[in-house]
Amino acid sequence: MENTKGKRLTKKDRPNPINEEIIIPDDQVLISVTDPKGIIIEANDIFVQVSGYNEDELIGSSHNIIRHPDMPKIMFKIVWDHIMDKENVMAVVKNLAKDGKYYWVVTDFVTRVDADRNIINYTAYRRPVADKVKQAVIPLYKALCAIEEVAGMDAAERFLNHYFDDRDTNYDDMVEEIIVKNCDKAAVLGFGDNVEGTMKEMSKEKKQSLFNKLFGVK
Ligand SMILES: Cc1cc2nc3c(=O)[nH]c(=O)nc-3n(C[C@H](O)[C@H](O)[C@H](O)COP(=O)(O)O)c2cc1C
Repeated sequence: MENTKGKRLTKKDRPNPINEEIIIPDDQVLISVTDPKGIIIEANDIFVQVSGYNEDELIGSSHNIIRHPDMPKIMFKIVWDHIMDKENVMAVVKNLAKDGKYYWVVTDFVTRVDADRNIINYTAYRRPVADKVKQAVIPLYKALCAIEEVAGMDAAERFLNHYFDDRDTNYDDMVEEIIVKNCDKAAVLGFGDNVEGTMKEMSKEKKQSLFNKLFGVK
């Protein structure tokens, strides 16, 4: 899969997945930056290394080259709806490496804007995910993929909206809940046993700093 000059990788270049996981070291943050269309314009060393592509293959390529088929389309619609609205958003994502292996990450998507609020670029900060978080999202993602296959993404969106209504929640709160409820590190970091109760009373900034502590962003 040579990325000779002018040949940029797209989803047609994606490898066949194999059932082998790449474990990301706890202290690593995999970063990539895209232009407003989702074309990769920057990637840090650890992102390049884990992806299996070389930097030259990644830069200029569409970010969907690392999309894993186990990821529901609706999750990326939610991400794009948020970031195009200049709202940051988090998602638990299973990604596909060049050799077909997979890796799980929790990703913060951040939109950068200029003084006139025009979008300059998007940055993704990815950290490793606790096993319990993966176990919490796998059944939901399986259900969403199955619905998408038989009835399309709109049906999956309706399913997800019912899922939120039944639980009296929304996407952002669900992600927080899944991560905090299932992350043993919260207690270790001194947030005690009642992390959920504490979260409810936290400001957005405090929550961000909690996530930074949980996932090791400096
Ligand atoms: C900054 C940024 C980072 C992204 N990172 C990923 C990623 O790690 N994995 C992924 O599958 N899609 C990622 N995407 C979303 C892709 O652009 C794309 O929407 C997704 O892979 C689904 O593509 P498809 O519907 O064309 O198959 C990212 C998008 C942006 C803007």
